[in-house]
Amino acid sequence: MLNVVILAAGLGTRMQSNIPKVLHNLAGRPILGYVLDSALALNPTTITIVVGKESGQIKSFIGNFSKNINIVIQSEQLGTGHAFKQSIPNLLDCPDNYSSTLVLYGDVPLVRTATMDRLLKSCKNGLSILTSFLNDPNGYGRIIRDHNGCIKKIVEHKDANNVELNIKEINTGIIAAPTSMLIKWISKLTNNNMQGEYYLTDIVDMAVSEGLFVDSRFPDDYWEILGINNHIQQVKLERIWQEEQARVLMDAGVTLSDYKRIDIRGSLKCSKDVFIDVGCIFEGNVQLGSNVKIGPYCVLKDVNIADNVIIEAYSHLSSVTLGAGVQVGPFSRLCKGVNIGSNSKIGNFVEIKNSVFGKNSKANHLTYIGDSHIGSNVNIGAGTITCNYDGLNKHQTIIEDNAFIGSSSQLVAPVKVGAGATLGAGTTLTHDAPADQLTLSRTRQFSVVNWRRPGK
Ligand code: UD1
Ligand code: CA
Repeated sequence: MLNVVILAAGLGTRMQSNIPKVLHNLAGRPILGYVLDSALALNPTTITIVVGKESGQIKSFIGNFSKNINIVIQSEQLGTGHAFKQSIPNLLDCPDNYSSTLVLYGDVPLVRTATMDRLLKSCKNGLSILTSFLNDPNGYGRIIRDHNGCIKKIVEHKDANNVELNIKEINTGIIAAPTSMLIKWISKLTNNNMQGEYYLTDIVDMAVSEGLFVDSRFPDDYWEILGINNHIQQVKLERIWQEEQARVLMDAGVTLSDYKRIDIRGSLKCSKDVFIDVGCIFEGNVQLGSNVKIGPYCVLKDVNIADNVIIEAYSHLSSVTLGAGVQVGPFSRLCKGVNIGSNSKIGNFVEIKNSVFGKNSKANHLTYIGDSHIGSNVNIGAGTITCNYDGLNKHQTIIEDNAFIGSSSQLVAPVKVGAGATLGAGTTLTHDAPADQLTLSRTRQFSVVNWRRPGK
């Protein structure tokens, strides 16, 4: 049995915000989400978050998770030991079934599941603490070891003497212990210290007095234990996390022009030989096929891209599927469920919304296509506009295979252009254009022979 307790009742005053601290974002997602995801991967029997006050925002956020997550309220912030105590009624502890409890912090988002797992494996017979060495241990509780290297106690920074203050091994705050022992120790905590708080860390002393060996583990990466208390720490951790994600991509074979100039706010999966230029932002779920090239300053959200696609600079794609060999941009906007068939070309200043665009078709310049179904081998001339909205409803435009739309045409939907049809430039199409015929709606050109410009 495994209980996970996430302490998150701290007031988070340094965020200067009406949003609870643990709902502030890291890489586009609330920090609490990271802690929950990593903890849930351990498949715990119970999971409890200790919060400072009733928060509808936190409740609705945890509603997104499939597992039942308990919330308990610590109405007065009397210390980490007191916070943990509030979770005890939710812990499952059964005498004939070994039960351990892992304590995490809601504002320390990047601890890996593997690190949590290692700590849990090391706590079978007693307490185990996740510790770390910091060049600047200011503010942290220090790990005090005896001459054999065994942990004796944790001294909080404010309670530490000069010798103790020089110790660089710190308590990350993340601990694991058998549930029954933890509950027993917590009941004995006092607040007899500099801060007048119930310190969770005082249980170390108790375990040692009982003759137990207090174990410890390190995280794999230093950033796993970093917390967020203010916006500076938030952006610093954001940069560390973005760099880590960039590293994972590069390890998987992706070429980045600059690993410090990419932002992934979600999941980015790449096949072989992908190239990504500077300043791109990836949101939601993005998948890139092999040999895809993304130019500078593109934003891609929930996009699925097949092999050999080129996206040129400053393109914005949201809810889009691109077939193999498609070329997009520069300065294209594709959104709301656009599907572009293989080898088609969408050029500069072209916006396509909620439309299917067939194979080998082109809209190279300055065009708006909305709510449309475009066939294969279609050529859409510069300045074409589908007039899909009548002020109240949206209507569909259908352009069948091999059609040619002359430049600067307006297609007033609902309207259909038959297969192989040609629209002359400047046509305002209000009725269907028959297949294989030329349709135009302009007035005939004429010249006035003896006309003179007005003069002075
Ligand atoms: C705590 C540890 C310290 C450790 C440091 C790591 C104790 C006594 N000290 O210190 O050894 O080095 O974390 O960051 O445990 N919280 C509550 N209710 C409270 C107080 C805190 O829920 O009454 C929560 C906070 O929201 C936070 C976590 O517990 O998630 C740690 O609280 P914080 O005040 O930052 O702990 P420190 O005193 O800095
Ligand atoms: Ca702290």
